[in-house]
Amino acid sequence: CGGTRRDDSLRIGCALYTQDDTFISTVAQNLEWMVREAERETGRKITLFTADGRSSQATQLDQVDRFLARGCDVLLVNVVDRTAAAVIADKAEAEGVPLIFFNRQPVEEDIQRWDRIYYVGASARESGTLQGQLVLDAWREDREALDRNGDGVLQYVMLEGEPGHQDSLLRTEYSIKALTDGGVEVEKLANETANWNRAQAAARTAHCLEEFGNRIEAVFANNDDMALGAIDALADTPRERWPLIVGVDATAPAQEAVAAGQLYGTVHNDGRGQARAMLNLALALWAGEDPGEAVDLEEGHYVWLPYRPVTLENLEELRREQEETGPASY
Ligand code: GAL
Ligand code: CA
Repeated sequence: CGGTRRDDSLRIGCALYTQDDTFISTVAQNLEWMVREAERETGRKITLFTADGRSSQATQLDQVDRFLARGCDVLLVNVVDRTAAAVIADKAEAEGVPLIFFNRQPVEEDIQRWDRIYYVGASARESGTLQGQLVLDAWREDREALDRNGDGVLQYVMLEGEPGHQDSLLRTEYSIKALTDGGVEVEKLANETANWNRAQAAARTAHCLEEFGNRIEAVFANNDDMALGAIDALADTPRERWPLIVGVDATAPAQEAVAAGQLYGTVHNDGRGQARAMLNLALALWAGEDPGEAVDLEEGHYVWLPYRPVTLENLEELRREQEETGPASY
């Protein structure tokens, strides 16, 4: 499917680090849905090419080359390895094709390489703080239930996403900082890397349960898939002995787990808002309009979508909003 283009349609190339990631696949689904909607509204043809990088940077670089060869007008890149962002930026600039990175944040320097490079995402630090505050609230509301050994200290396990990812680093740091800033003393029992993955998190949690038993009072997971993995590992443990579990994303299965009382809380990662911002940016760039008119641009390059805490208390509100504004499931 190569060759030069023959029409004046908008061509968007979207490279995902992997399609096998719950949050990322919901961003991709939303984008697909919004593209169809924009076609109906503008009466212009819009083609969205989506490529699955399967967690290989070499594969993704080939996919970017192919998008450029196909005459894509805008690239959306969820970079596999953030250190490869500069190479991708140079390829796009050489072809004069605007580039929007999303979800996996390149360093500032790479974003500044060219004035038509953007980043659409959400503040990793904010998500960590909000997650920590959920646990802080629980501690303040019913400390006895949370501090099961009554030593006045919160014993916890941290389930981390991919090493080096901004969301792993900052959620790990700021979730705990929210507690210590709130005056709670904490004790880390274990830090386990589970790469955003449910099965890996289940295995790591099972291991922690063997080692620490019911000394674990809270499990902080850098995302919902890993929180669900922790829940999987607790299947044979009576509910009254479960630690308090928190995640990030508010994916559909995590919302179910909140409703079922298995997941104490999560932090909504606005995948739909990120898809909307990317499409609006793409449409503006294509039309030669000022991108700052289409989206809230910070420092000329960044679009930040807000996070929001979710517990049983406001779950219904979030669900209702999502039903009213977009495709099912996210
Ligand atoms: C995070 C999200 C994770 C995972 C990761 C991939 O923002 O919370 O679930 O999707 O991005 O880069
Ligand atoms: Ca304790």
